[in-house]
Amino acid sequence: MKNLFDVSGKVAVVSGGSSGIGFMMAQGLLENGAKVYITARKVARLEEAQKELSAYGDCVAIPSDLSNLEGIEGFVAELSKHEDKLDILINNAGAVWSAPIDDFPEAGWDKIMDINVKGLFFMTQKCLPLLKAAGSKEDPARVINIASINGIRNSGMTTYSYTASKSAVVNLTTHLATDLVDRNILVNAIAPGYFPSQMTKAIVENDAMTQYALSKIPCGRMGSPEDIAGTALYLSSRASAFVCGHTIVVDGGQIATA
Ligand SMILES: NC(=O)c1ccc[n+]([C@@H]2O[C@H](COP(=O)([O-])OP(=O)(O)OC[C@H]3O[C@@H](n4cnc5c(N)ncnc54)[C@H](OP(=O)(O)O)[C@@H]3O)[C@@H](O)[C@H]2O)c1
Repeated sequence: MKNLFDVSGKVAVVSGGSSGIGFMMAQGLLENGAKVYITARKVARLEEAQKELSAYGDCVAIPSDLSNLEGIEGFVAELSKHEDKLDILINNAGAVWSAPIDDFPEAGWDKIMDINVKGLFFMTQKCLPLLKAAGSKEDPARVINIASINGIRNSGMTTYSYTASKSAVVNLTTHLATDLVDRNILVNAIAPGYFPSQMTKAIVENDAMTQYALSKIPCGRMGSPEDIAGTALYLSSRASAFVCGHTIVVDGGQIATA
């Protein structure tokens, strides 16, 4: 039973690792001995994150736009120059769009679906040869999709495409899991609640909105880096080798009381 949560020597990709939840999970993996590739569009922020994360271990930055096939193929081609296997793929890159229902624009639908759903699917597809090379029956390779509690219950916000995209992530996770398990690749998801990040900056920086958000969280606080990294480490390690196709809710009790 010793070292059940060990990820040392493993190779991981965290998409959207330059910021927020992705950065937190990348730090957790690095501090526990994994080599971590991070990717995002904005090069300056990505390089800054890579420098910060390098204090914890071997972190490599590869810029990419994962919302289209060309960007995904470019990323995987670059990754393949450095690695012949991939133990852990965390599909975390994502975006949100909010607008009243009467005015919700097509661009706000397509942009969110392209990165949150299409990008996640094709990133997984293009990484399959590397994942297959890493997995064994005893310790399969891992795909961890980042969903959201907003894909499970009605958030009450006008983020229509985000809601649909995150529900899609939950269901796609079970579908991919059943199709990939015989290749020794386990697929699971995490549905975070409220964590500080660029995406939630407007709430975090507004006292009234923060108080309102906190009043809905039974644990009385937002998520910490340890909360999300701990679940990512569990789903990345031998400890979860018999967990297949599930979404773990990490939300301080919001769904439980919804
Ligand atoms: N924070 C929360 O409370 C919360 C709750 C539930 C779920 N989530 C989910 O957690 C994930 C991370 O979100 P976050 O809150 O940490 O937000 P964030 O701080 O805005 O981080 C999003 C990351 O994704 C990257 N990204 C966005 N579009 C991309 C694209 N087309 N190609 C490549 N990278 C892209 C961003 O970098 P660039 O902009 O430079 O590309 C950034 O690194 C998302 O899937 C989000 O839906 C967050």
